[in-house]
Amino acid sequence: MCGIVGIVGKEPVAGQIVEALRRLEYRGYDSAGVATLENGRLDRRRAEGKLRNLEVKLSQAPLSGIVGIGHTRWATHGKPNETNAHPHATDRLAVVHNGIIENFRELKAALEAKGIRFETETDTEVVAQLVTYEMRQGRPPIEAVAVTLPRLRGAFALGFLFAGEDDLMIGARHGAPLAIGYGDGETYLGSDALALAPFTDEIAYLEDGDWAILRHRSVDIRDERGQPVQRPRHKILSGSFLADKGNYRHFMAKEIHEQPEVVGRTLAHYVNFASGRVELPFELPFDFKDLKRVSISACGTAYLAGLVSKYWFERLARVPVEIDVASEFRYREAPMEPGGLALFVSQSGETADTLASLRYAGAEGQHTVSVVNVPTSTMARESAVIAPTLAGVEVGVASTKAFTCQLTVLLCLAIAAGRARGTLTAEEEKTLVDALIGVPGLMSEAMKREHQIEILAREISKAKDVLYLGRGTSYPLALEGALKLKEISYIHAEGYAAGELKHGPIALIDETMPVIVIAPHDGVFEKTVSNMQEVAARGGRIVLITDEKGALETGLETMATIVMPSAHPVVAPIVHSVPIQLLAYHTAVFMGKDVDQPRNLAKSVTVE
Ligand code: AGP
Repeated sequence: MCGIVGIVGKEPVAGQIVEALRRLEYRGYDSAGVATLENGRLDRRRAEGKLRNLEVKLSQAPLSGIVGIGHTRWATHGKPNETNAHPHATDRLAVVHNGIIENFRELKAALEAKGIRFETETDTEVVAQLVTYEMRQGRPPIEAVAVTLPRLRGAFALGFLFAGEDDLMIGARHGAPLAIGYGDGETYLGSDALALAPFTDEIAYLEDGDWAILRHRSVDIRDERGQPVQRPRHKILSGSFLADKGNYRHFMAKEIHEQPEVVGRTLAHYVNFASGRVELPFELPFDFKDLKRVSISACGTAYLAGLVSKYWFERLARVPVEIDVASEFRYREAPMEPGGLALFVSQSGETADTLASLRYAGAEGQHTVSVVNVPTSTMARESAVIAPTLAGVEVGVASTKAFTCQLTVLLCLAIAAGRARGTLTAEEEKTLVDALIGVPGLMSEAMKREHQIEILAREISKAKDVLYLGRGTSYPLALEGALKLKEISYIHAEGYAAGELKHGPIALIDETMPVIVIAPHDGVFEKTVSNMQEVAARGGRIVLITDEKGALETGLETMATIVMPSAHPVVAPIVHSVPIQLLAYHTAVFMGKDVDQPRNLAKSVTVE
């Protein structure tokens, strides 16, 4: 999604804004721009493509204003070109916007009927023209914004500057995150704290409907009724923003290799290593033994973590689980018996569809628990309980360490549920917790197959289509492997339940399409071997991801066999995430793709 930065500063801000925007590059974008105010005069520079193009423009025609706003745009309305790049401006103001103004067409038509002409196809320009129109009616900037905001529908965050107002910036939040930073005689606006880290460690998060009036020495936050409101200021630990690649070529590589550490750190937050018991770091407003049903809703990789946990909750805690992708759940109008547990999984905690599902479930009387990686995110703030993953900042658009930390938290929840419901004995719990405690070491061991996987990736990079197969908890991994590969290498990949092969996909099998089979030696291993035999009999080329026992018993000719360290079947999905992540990564690297910021993708989909 788009990135917003604003500074009410004491010295020229254009360069600082570009540096802050660079910290938001991970969100994905296709154009960028800056506007500054100097002696009341607004001026702006915009460029298509990456920030370096904007820097060229700024070097050719510098901006020296000390108040400014900047933006990285991920195109929703209108092509990703300079004309549509933000900030959008009129003679009165400049505005940057993250999100979608859903009713922009009717607003635009009403303005055009008044003779106002538009230069761009964007919804953002409608906001600029609306506020300008109000100012032309004699309203001062703050009042013009105040009367405009209630007319906008959709999820958005906005930042405004006004000609002639060298000590004023306005920010507004409605569905897309926006933070306020407090400095020494300076104030800041940012899509998240990461962008503001170079300027300040004192941050406040606007709530939905809030808007803020920023001046050099004051911030005045109003709610949607225009009433003054206080929002807590957080001290942001600078360490949590060590978002640099270290000695890795890409953030994704760094984050894959951080997994043993961050899974271990997350685990330590949920289990008592001495007693071998799960000890949840929060109170639950319900008793697992009273639950009749658990519903899970999430998107993308987070959804697939939830899908793995469905098997765990049903097998370990004997509780029925219903799971949906959030973009379906939010409109399904599912009847929900009050008092149920509604689980939400999200790395960013800002995904629009998942947030909407959370709000629906809350309205339906569910106990909402969110497994999130950003404890100050909107989802975290709106959930009854936050179940944090401690993955640290995940910059790579393709989610890796957040995924395995989500699995870790979800398994701890399932074990706690099993204990509470009497479906797990203390002995069984200890076995599972011991297996979990061993996972970071097994993931480190799994990393040792990286060179073999890198060589295999060269073969996979030649494929036009790839099929992933798995059974049981390896089935969601097959889906995740396909998602990882397609989203960074752009090779078409599909994940399938191995048992479904004969119901259609087997028609695709030939020597041109690699079939990646995830099959640890577990209770369904034999069944999956049969599927592999069906593939081999038709000339299909198999890549088998298994463990030592599975490798010994398969007895099949494969394109490659990646042998994972043996793991307890329940925790195998966490360990087997490593090879599917590495395979996608090295394939994309070999193909020269933009691994950390794949085309068309954004790290946090804050619009539906
Ligand atoms: C995963 O690799 C993708 N980048 C994407 O599917 C992501 O998992 C999805 O958008 C959900 O994001 P969230 O976890 O921040 O809610």
